[in-house]
Amino acid sequence: MIVSMSMDDELLARFDDALKTKGYSTRSEAMRDLVRTFISDCDWEGEEGDSIAVITLLYGKEVKKPELMRIQHRYREISTMLHTHIDPINCLEVYVIKASSDRIKELLKEFRGLQGVKVVKFVKSACEV
Ligand code: NI
Repeated sequence: MIVSMSMDDELLARFDDALKTKGYSTRSEAMRDLVRTFISDCDWEGEEGDSIAVITLLYGKEVKKPELMRIQHRYREISTMLHTHIDPINCLEVYVIKASSDRIKELLKEFRGLQGVKVVKFVKSACEV
């Protein structure tokens, strides 16, 4: 099946550069890989007990700081936070959270829904031993 999508020129140019760097020969090949990763990230179900995740958040000046702060305070399971100013308009934050997988997914969803957030990445660790 052929799927078409819209994207601004700048993002497409950066995507093309990135896929060449990673060794993909076509956009379709890179997109299929991205979709598989996206699905496997959503498939994070049925894990018992707490997990540990490291979340990185990249955001620009458009982010609403009070809203970000409200999210941070709602998730008391966040044990560590680190803030770095990348350049005059972008900030990077790193969070370590120990919580149930459902709770971590909830937090990721809130971060992704926040205006001004450009990239949300996470690494999940094994369940508690
Ligand atoms: Ni900053």
